[in-house]
Amino acid sequence: MPDAEGILEARSPAEMGAQTTPTGSLNIKGADNLDWGVKNRLSKLIQPDGRCMFLPIDHGYFQGPTRKLERPAETIAPLIHMADGLFVTQGVLRAAIPADLKTPVILRVSGGTSVVGNDLANETLVTSIEDVIRANAVAVGISVFIGTDYEKQTLQNLADMVDLCGNYNIPVMAVTAVGKEMEKRTARYLALCCRICAEIGARVVKTYYAADDFEKVTNGCPVPVVMAGGPKVDTERQVFDFVYDGIQKGAIGVNLGRNIWQSPNPVAVMSSLHAIIHDNATPAQAEEIFLDIKND
Ligand code: 5RP
Repeated sequence: MPDAEGILEARSPAEMGAQTTPTGSLNIKGADNLDWGVKNRLSKLIQPDGRCMFLPIDHGYFQGPTRKLERPAETIAPLIHMADGLFVTQGVLRAAIPADLKTPVILRVSGGTSVVGNDLANETLVTSIEDVIRANAVAVGISVFIGTDYEKQTLQNLADMVDLCGNYNIPVMAVTAVGKEMEKRTARYLALCCRICAEIGARVVKTYYAADDFEKVTNGCPVPVVMAGGPKVDTERQVFDFVYDGIQKGAIGVNLGRNIWQSPNPVAVMSSLHAIIHDNATPAQAEEIFLDIKND
């Protein structure tokens, strides 16, 4: 039975002093007008410094058992504490990732194609909103293939997911995919893609870095832009250089996979990138961190 006796009277303003209602300090582009639930979810992914480091392990959804993702839990174990989000499919999440994971999950919800099929762009939605909720995902990720035969279909996938997720205040991260046409990654093309995704309602856009004019990509996008890494490059310094440059030009972080976990020194690469993203380290400082950890 509820206790009705001994209830203490509320304090008066005179007893409490001046009011200092905490207003919060979200540092997320384009999020000011959003509802509490979606802001709260975004704040789990994007840190108070306005930056983020997502770790993607979703590659198997079209590549099969990619090198170093054969056993996903073993690969992420030494890295995951440094990640602000894990980008993963519901199948791998359920089958291979321990359920006491503390890192927020971004669930990949588009797919249905493979590297041996006719066209990587011919994606559909493969995960329902019910599964997103059942998996306790904080956000979803979905690819769009702009400039392909499947532009309209994949943008419709994005619009449908924005609509479904909107009912539950779950943010959508759009992934501006290029399939096998890696040479498409110019700032002009990426700026077009990012803006279209934001117009449809993506709260975050994942795109590629472009060496020239990358600031036009971030400047033209009213929501945060994060960078993917693409196929593994030759040296760690190349990764540090482009991530640093992309952040100076307005990206808020990365969703970067193969150049971390396919490296012979994944912990050293992840730690160095973490320092660039969250501690404003320069590429030279990041390289020092890398060598320290590698040679330890
Ligand atoms: C695959 C993806 C990946 O999450 C994205 O490409 C990031 O990984 P990487 O840095 O290895 O390119 O969306 O479609």
